[in-house]
Amino acid sequence: MEYQEYTAHWQRQVRLVADRVLGTHYFGKSSEIVREPNTHMLVCVDKDELLGFCHGRLLPKRGLRDYLEHRVDFVPDSLESADTAGAFGVIQSLAVAPEYQGKGVGTGLLSRLHDLLVGHGADKIIASFKHGPSSTPIHGIMKRMDFEFWLRLETNFRDRCNEGEFTCPDRTDQCNCDALFFRKTIY
Ligand SMILES: CC(C)(COP(=O)(O)OP(=O)(O)OC[C@H]1O[C@@H](n2cnc3c(N)ncnc32)[C@H](O)[C@@H]1OP(=O)(O)O)[C@@H](O)C(=O)NCCC(=O)NCCS
Ligand SMILES: [Zn+2]
Repeated sequence: MEYQEYTAHWQRQVRLVADRVLGTHYFGKSSEIVREPNTHMLVCVDKDELLGFCHGRLLPKRGLRDYLEHRVDFVPDSLESADTAGAFGVIQSLAVAPEYQGKGVGTGLLSRLHDLLVGHGADKIIASFKHGPSSTPIHGIMKRMDFEFWLRLETNFRDRCNEGEFTCPDRTDQCNCDALFFRKTIY
């Protein structure tokens, strides 16, 4: 088992794991998997099998509000200054194939992406997780990595899910997902 940077070789399997774990059509077109500038995506693989992936990016200057989908009225000063400086790292997705969950792969991916973002200049990091009724508890992992819980928000996924563009794993007649945000100060 090893951790690598994502390449197009893993595109199909990343999409399959995302569909199974995060919801059908989580990623739009294949070409959009690593679409935003300054994106870093890591995969954990065993020979030719993908066990999981994690992706995030360094936000552009003053990119925080867009990232939070303009759903947050109050941003603490310390986050504000990192946002102005363009020193904000975000962890946007994390998924491990069900057969390999609970074996440390998720923690391995997160900590490597964390270090990569810090290496690229992130002074503050936000990690967001799409969350629903049957989601794996993530608080323990985040606490061990020194993140604190910040916010729980609705997300655009809910609209996409209710419009049929995307389907959550836990969906009933309506979408019941939201997003959990954790934050960490590096400097
Ligand atoms: C969340 C996820 C990425 C974690 O990766 P992982 O490789 O399974 O996790 P690790 O083995 O590194 O970490 C183990 C932790 O996850 C918990 N965990 C993992 N699989 C679990 C399962 N099937 N049921 C309950 N807990 C589970 C462990 O209890 C442990 O938590 P603890 O530290 O509080 O004891 C992965 O389980 C996943 O993709 N889950 C589906 C998507 C999801 O629910 N995401 C979370 C949204 S909030
Ligand atoms: Zn949904």
